[in-house]
Amino acid sequence: MDNSEALLQGKSRDDSSDYNKLQGILNYRIRNNKIIFEFKHAEAVIKFLSADSFRLIMAHSNQSINYRSTPAVIKHNLSYDNFDIKEKDNQIIIETEKLLLKVKKDKFLLKVYDKKGNLIHQDYSNHALGWKKQKVRAWKSFKNNERFYGLGEKTGWLDKKGRRYEMWNHDTFVPHVDDTDPLYQSIPFLISYSPENSYGIYFDNSYRSFFDLGSEGQDYYSFWAEGGDLDYYFLNGPSIKEVIQKYSNITGRMPLPPKWSLGYHQSRYSYYPQAEVEQLVKTFRDKEIPCDAFHFDIHYMDEYKIYTWDEDRFPDPEAMFTNMADNGIKGVTIIDPGVKRDPEYKLYQEGMENDYFCKYLDGKVFIDKVWPGKCAFPDFTQSEVRDWWAGLQKDYVELGIKGIWNDMNEPAVFNKTDTMDVNVMHQNDGDPGTHRRFHNLYGFLEDKATFEGLKESLENERPFVLTRSGFAGIQRYSAVWTGDNRSFWDHIKIAMPMLMNLGMSGVSFCGTDVGGFTGNSNGELLTRWTQMGAFVPFFRNHCEVRAISQEPWSFGAKHEKIIKKYIELRYKLITHLYNLFYQASQTGIPVMRPLIMEFPEDQKCENLSDQFMIGESLLVAPVYQPDQKKRMLYLPEGKWIDFWTKEIYQGGDHIIVDAPLDTLPLFVRAGSIIPLNKKLNYVEEEKIESLKLNIFLTEDNNLGNYSLYDDDGISYNYQDGIYNLTDFNYQYTDNQIIFNIERTEENYQQEFKDYKLIFNNLNKDPQNIYVDGNNLNEFIYSDNTLEFKVPVVINKITIGLS
Ligand code: GLC
Repeated sequence: MDNSEALLQGKSRDDSSDYNKLQGILNYRIRNNKIIFEFKHAEAVIKFLSADSFRLIMAHSNQSINYRSTPAVIKHNLSYDNFDIKEKDNQIIIETEKLLLKVKKDKFLLKVYDKKGNLIHQDYSNHALGWKKQKVRAWKSFKNNERFYGLGEKTGWLDKKGRRYEMWNHDTFVPHVDDTDPLYQSIPFLISYSPENSYGIYFDNSYRSFFDLGSEGQDYYSFWAEGGDLDYYFLNGPSIKEVIQKYSNITGRMPLPPKWSLGYHQSRYSYYPQAEVEQLVKTFRDKEIPCDAFHFDIHYMDEYKIYTWDEDRFPDPEAMFTNMADNGIKGVTIIDPGVKRDPEYKLYQEGMENDYFCKYLDGKVFIDKVWPGKCAFPDFTQSEVRDWWAGLQKDYVELGIKGIWNDMNEPAVFNKTDTMDVNVMHQNDGDPGTHRRFHNLYGFLEDKATFEGLKESLENERPFVLTRSGFAGIQRYSAVWTGDNRSFWDHIKIAMPMLMNLGMSGVSFCGTDVGGFTGNSNGELLTRWTQMGAFVPFFRNHCEVRAISQEPWSFGAKHEKIIKKYIELRYKLITHLYNLFYQASQTGIPVMRPLIMEFPEDQKCENLSDQFMIGESLLVAPVYQPDQKKRMLYLPEGKWIDFWTKEIYQGGDHIIVDAPLDTLPLFVRAGSIIPLNKKLNYVEEEKIESLKLNIFLTEDNNLGNYSLYDDDGISYNYQDGIYNLTDFNYQYTDNQIIFNIERTEENYQQEFKDYKLIFNNLNKDPQNIYVDGNNLNEFIYSDNTLEFKVPVVINKITIGLS
């Protein structure tokens, strides 16, 4: 009986009882810092990576442990040996500097304690690990107050508890509703949060897998895969941020993106002919609506053959990209993995001649339909195929293209299963396996090839890759957009928890199609969506072939004006956003964050799904219903400042604020320093010579700091140390403000010549201002706002107040 039949009969679909369970440790030994446990027909190993993280692997059916990781994992040699191990009663006790593990010998049940003796994680009380034919499974207990985050791109609320989720990359065109699953990405990484302690479980298995987080009201959660190894990493926090740092240490962090890619992207399926694109460039520039990139969907190709151009529609792509570049707009072209089966098509010939395509065991190439009709699919598990693919980027780069948009790479196939036959083989550089093992890695490996190829061809420029499909670690190669959403109000709402969880799953650079992909958008919807999009890490307006136009001006002057204002705001914040991307590249901590990450003790934030933080200081509460003039939102403890009115709010409660169509509720945490630029038409339009630093004071708030990273925004010179780091901090006391500027790294020829300091909500008269001991006479003080300029070289400002 399959699960759906079981459900129809009102039976549980949980088949836990059918599994063989790991029991009875016969023996254990330590080899190369690994603790190896022997069982009758199985083996398990615990390997510490640090004092508070370990990897656990089980091998069953008389197989021995296989230490093979998926390509998601980049840190293979993390090892920690400072542990003690002893046996007591029926338990094996392992102690590190930070954790105490107790393993029950009869059933291999694991309990993890912190050094204060608090139980922070435990296996389910009946069984811990098991297998059923090729399936491998783990069962864990959870507490009532435990919440779950992560799992990548999933529908539903911020807290993932109470549902079952599937990891199987899928082209999901049906409307994404609360329980639509799976979507395009598979990231088997779970964060367990409770106010006392958070930990992460990364299940390093690329087969189709599941996480059941109590979907039938069980008091345990469980994860399993249809093949491969039971191989997971336990990563203790204790904070969510530390969990993410540890996870991204293992699976990698996003590289610094080219700064232009943080700008506004305009797309549709599809812009053509060339004259239309040229008109589009002109319209953006005439209207002075900022824009950094146009995306070219499948109609640019000749019969949807990738790496070709339809010469009637685009007689001179190079000239078009030059014109775009002259206007500050980069070109990003779509690529699908399917290579049209056409004996006269060069790519197909090359793939066939060199044996680059996926085949069945009997040698037959897998052929099935996508946009171009019958296609063959490159076997990206082979490094020589990835090299071939990487090499294909060169011609595009020479045309002037700066980014590649990898679509349909689940891979999507127009057949009953929506993908490749699972029996197709992948050669994987001598460690072959079927598509069951490699399906979830298909897009990931294509993105790796694309990223590396672009990087090579762009020489000292950073590439931009956008992908629909991916696996854990995808952040190393690509930004992610959440596929085919609809022009529904609800899709503004579901985007928030989806993107926040993607961020917590390592993918900082993510976004949704602003305005909605399928269906017709409208002025109000696009306006509200753009307000949110201006704060989402990847900001692209895109819509389907049948949809009406949804460029910023498509719905009349009233909406255009507001949409423009928010795209401009994005550009004013670009230095701040780039700084947050830098932090993500260093720590893995996402740009867009759920409030619980910043306020981990505030229960009201635990499942707060319709607001988010950008960094530590900006709270965004988008409007996601039509006809709204007000928005209720929650401000955590502390003081908050309305970004628009500068009004001060006391947090700790819900508030209702005015939110007419031109207002996105936006709040700044008191004390914050936020850089703002002048409006730009595109990121590289001109150097920002005067950087505004906005300081958000409140009466009783007297401390603030900000650390600013800057470099040229495009090259890899930062890897040779060519960047600056500047720390700003201030103290606001009864009678003075002391503002310090300290440059901790100074190797990049800084573009800022001066800082314009703007102290908001200063309700005491400035008497005198000393800049490095010299009196400054030029300042403006009105409406409780003090503004003045200082050259970047100075170190200390003292403002006397009365
Ligand atoms: C897929 C993509 C969509 C794209 C379309 C045509 O549906 O998700 O973004 O526009 O294919 O290429």
